[in-house]
Amino acid sequence: MGTTKRESDYVLGTHDDEVARLGLQHRVWRNAVTDCWHRVGITHGWRVIDVGAGPGYATADLAEIVGPTGAVLAIERSARFLEAARERCGRRGLENVQFREADLMEASLGDLGFDASWCRWVASFVSSPKKLIENIAGALRPGGTAIFHEYSDYETFRFMPMKPALEAFSRDVMASWRASGGEPNVARELPQLLREAGFRVLEIIPRVRTVSQRDYTWQWPKSFIEVNIARQEELGRVTCAQAADVRREFAEVEAESGAWFTTPMFLEIIAQRE
Ligand SMILES: C[S@@+](CC[C@H](N)C(=O)[O-])C[C@H]1O[C@@H](n2cnc3c(N)ncnc32)[C@H](O)[C@@H]1O
Repeated sequence: MGTTKRESDYVLGTHDDEVARLGLQHRVWRNAVTDCWHRVGITHGWRVIDVGAGPGYATADLAEIVGPTGAVLAIERSARFLEAARERCGRRGLENVQFREADLMEASLGDLGFDASWCRWVASFVSSPKKLIENIAGALRPGGTAIFHEYSDYETFRFMPMKPALEAFSRDVMASWRASGGEPNVARELPQLLREAGFRVLEIIPRVRTVSQRDYTWQWPKSFIEVNIARQEELGRVTCAQAADVRREFAEVEAESGAWFTTPMFLEIIAQRE
């Protein structure tokens, strides 16, 4: 607990395939995300922190929404991801974004007085969600809003028809996050941690989809399996034979016209700093 992981130790990796996968993942959930931001009231002039911004897909969208009178601060531990975020924002002509390379487990963000924070799929990978929440609390103004999209029930990851190696794959993903000091179902802890850090939790909405191959969401498990099984092989967490079983079973599921997939469930949590 409390130790800083080097970039190379980040369980999902920071290579080009992962950058592309995070982009696909952002597009798959983008409607739900922008709907959430609109409900919170993010608009021109807001100052928003993207906590654990990755390669900056949400950062760029936020920067467009808050406009030139607003500002976005992208905080990220990986220099590689941060560079990708900088390039993305540059390509979209966004000049209202600041980039800060920082480890959320080490540094205090400081008393920034920001209006809102956006934190998606980050809390599962930190050694102390409590420290993460305290850090966010300190960076928001009183009345500021913290928004989270974080997994609560990763076990809902399921293909129908069920396949043994694909079931094992989802268990292995969870085990690998735990082995690197994180917790896949971290959202279960957040309401209490938020209360303890001086937030009032306003809303919690479960987000889960069950989709066929016709839905764009199907591309999410497809890309995740392709990229993650290679990463797990690289980390020595699965054997070549296990990886081959996962790929074969996924190909079998894709070949079935009646296959369905249920996404791992995450919670949309909206909390206000008192
Ligand atoms: C699954 S990615 C999500 C990225 C982005 N939030 C998104 O939704 O596309 C998790 C991100 O959290 C970052 N991260 C994990 N632990 C961190 C820490 N201790 N400090 C800063 N960033 C961290 C990783 O580097 C990675 O960019």
